[in-house]
Amino acid sequence: MKIVVIGTGYVGLVSSICFAKIGHQVIAVDKIASKIDQLKKGEIPIYEPGLKEMLTEVVGLDNISFTTNLQEALIDAKAVFIAVGTPQDEDGSADLSYVLDAIKEIAKYSTSSKLVVTKSTVPAKTGEKIKKLLTETNPQIKFYVASNPEFLREGCAIEDFMKPDRIVIGYDEDQAKKILEEIYNYFPASKIFHTDLVTAELIKYGSNSFLATKIAFINEIADLCENVGGNIKDLAYAMGQDSRIGGKFLNPGPGFGGSCFPKDILALLNIAKTNNSSLSLIDAVVKSNNNRKNLMVKKIVNLLDCDVENKKIIWLGLAFKANTDDIRYSPSIAIAKELAKMGAQIFAHDFQAQSNAKKELNDFNNVKFIDDIWEAIKNCELMVIATEWEQYKQIDLSRVKALNPNLKIIDLRNILDISEIKKHGFIFDFIGNGS
Ligand code: UDX
Repeated sequence: MKIVVIGTGYVGLVSSICFAKIGHQVIAVDKIASKIDQLKKGEIPIYEPGLKEMLTEVVGLDNISFTTNLQEALIDAKAVFIAVGTPQDEDGSADLSYVLDAIKEIAKYSTSSKLVVTKSTVPAKTGEKIKKLLTETNPQIKFYVASNPEFLREGCAIEDFMKPDRIVIGYDEDQAKKILEEIYNYFPASKIFHTDLVTAELIKYGSNSFLATKIAFINEIADLCENVGGNIKDLAYAMGQDSRIGGKFLNPGPGFGGSCFPKDILALLNIAKTNNSSLSLIDAVVKSNNNRKNLMVKKIVNLLDCDVENKKIIWLGLAFKANTDDIRYSPSIAIAKELAKMGAQIFAHDFQAQSNAKKELNDFNNVKFIDDIWEAIKNCELMVIATEWEQYKQIDLSRVKALNPNLKIIDLRNILDISEIKKHGFIFDFIGNGS
């Protein structure tokens, strides 16, 4: 089927390439000409494992093309997916201006009937709004509207798209259902969950808010372990063995970040407020996660015996999580900034996020970016692990000890082997390290 995808960010680009992989004819559209030029050359503007290789494959199959010209792209397309950003507005609500701009253009340029599907995370009842705008702008054309929220995670986006736990489709008309079933016929019908438009829109917010709640919960329980003397790793493991709870998203850390959770929970609170509902639990999650960064700063300051000025710190990890170059709402960056403000000398490292982080930390001349962590290890007083890259997990602690016997270590992701740390006699701290 000929499909147009508007937006070549994480969701749009991964969806375009994966739709092409499952046999559709995809035209990916973006207003940013430099991005489209890059994609035409086979280059991927973001870091996402496996995506470049898959792009080469689908280009070879002649299943994908890139353009800035929406009008041309829309000719003969049966379905148009909206995958543009819905950034956070001042009041926490999702800013729909990119979505609505795209809708106006679809209405203006369409010459045949189309299914318009939102993949972007949009507030409840946006589908209704879209339908009204399309039919009012172009009453000659029959438009169908559907919601198909995307659940892919950065860093494992292809796997999430190609092997989804479920595909949610929300619609109010049979023709929309028919077209969506055709688009997703590559996947077993049992994976496809059918519902109405508003419910589909809310499922995405419900899922992200629940996962964010799970993380905030385990973070607070980790703090309790720290004070009481329990071991959070054992606790989370044992809790996760209960199939009603499940072991995923129970890793304590410096707080959740990224382009979705922080933004989506605020948007959900806004939806609740405007619909006379109370989500006090989600309110608490926001507060807990905001406070998390201060707690992390305190932990680091304590390990430095409250003397931060001019202390040299090697900072491992800047991305909001491993396997991405994304630093949006990265707790690592927020915490590093606070320490830099206190006068620490920070030597920052990341495997993919360094160039994005440079722009964000540009104002701090006491933050330097390094490629060789070993040179910095020799000269620093403290090593902070802030992002859980596998390579940091594998760090050779004997070599660290040999290079700098007095180095203190704080692991904000609990990825190091605590028995190894103790064996080498480091002064250290973890999350929830009560025992
Ligand atoms: C998330 C959702 O998982 C995905 O379904 C949705 O489509 C987009 O938002 P993503 O932002 O890529 O995906 O990252 P995710 O892996 O969910 O992690 C989000 C944040 O939670 C990160 O900061 C991560 O470090 C943190 N996290 C995650 C924890 O602190 N502990 C955990 O156990 C899991």
